[in-house]
Amino acid sequence: MNPDKPFILAGVMGWPVAHSRSPAIHNHWIREHGLNGSYVLLPVQPERLGDAMRGLRALGFAGCNLTIPHKVAAMALVDRVDPLAQRIGAINTVVVQTDGTLAGYNTDAFGYIQSLLDARPDWRADAGPVTVLGAGGAARAILVALAERGAKEIRLCNRSLDKAQALAAEFGAPIRALPWEEREQALEGCALLVNTTSLGMKGQPALEISLDALPPHAMVSDIIYVPLETELLAAARARGLVAVDGLGMLLNQARPAFEHWFGVMPALTPELRHMVEATL
Ligand code: ATR
Repeated sequence: MNPDKPFILAGVMGWPVAHSRSPAIHNHWIREHGLNGSYVLLPVQPERLGDAMRGLRALGFAGCNLTIPHKVAAMALVDRVDPLAQRIGAINTVVVQTDGTLAGYNTDAFGYIQSLLDARPDWRADAGPVTVLGAGGAARAILVALAERGAKEIRLCNRSLDKAQALAAEFGAPIRALPWEEREQALEGCALLVNTTSLGMKGQPALEISLDALPPHAMVSDIIYVPLETELLAAARARGLVAVDGLGMLLNQARPAFEHWFGVMPALTPELRHMVEATL
């Protein structure tokens, strides 16, 4: 440790938070860049979130990440919300500003887009229609990310059609809500299929969908990372399609947060990926 460098603290507030991979990711980068600092788990009950966030400054934290169940509630507790996070309706990163005020950001949209670009550097959001499965919290960041990147048509399929319709009304064009039963027809001519539902996650029911209607140039992404290779991704690979797992989003969303606090944009190396994969 270099005593001439400042000691920088950050962490992740969640409830529960014990299984978060974020400390492993950020502490890896702290070591890699020879920085003084630490990234810690911060188990914070929902009713104590306000106290905990106000305590960041006093405790000398540069900021924190927020995970379940705090991402929406925290928006009302910061002094400034970044416009992209405002649109998404959730923050996952808090930065203590030099004047002591708190700024809220959402780096999930960046993380998602970057995971696609890592898999196919020439990926473009306007390459063709996109089908998004699911209209929960995770879908919001992905819908905003795809729309911001210039997606021309987003077919949003959700079991509860009213939730998909509400998101389509809130975000507007290019999102169109479709019933869950039409998810296979929706794949016709699609350049990208994204699963944001919990279907296919360890311990959850399978995602039942035939990929027959997807064209050969389509990409398939799943934001689930336990298991890393979901049945959806295995089916995509079996057809020769590019398949993108959810670990890429998890690792990439951490990069801009780290940059906010530590002042350097860290890289996603195969070494880091393997280290986190070993914990899944
Ligand atoms: P998250 O914040 O991770 O997105 P969520 O808000 O609970 O979690 O959303 C879960 C998503 O998975 C929703 O789109 C949900 O569909 P509903 O809006 O109809 O609840 C979807 N989902 C969960 N179980 C499902 C199932 N058995 N069949 C179809 N969709 C399901």
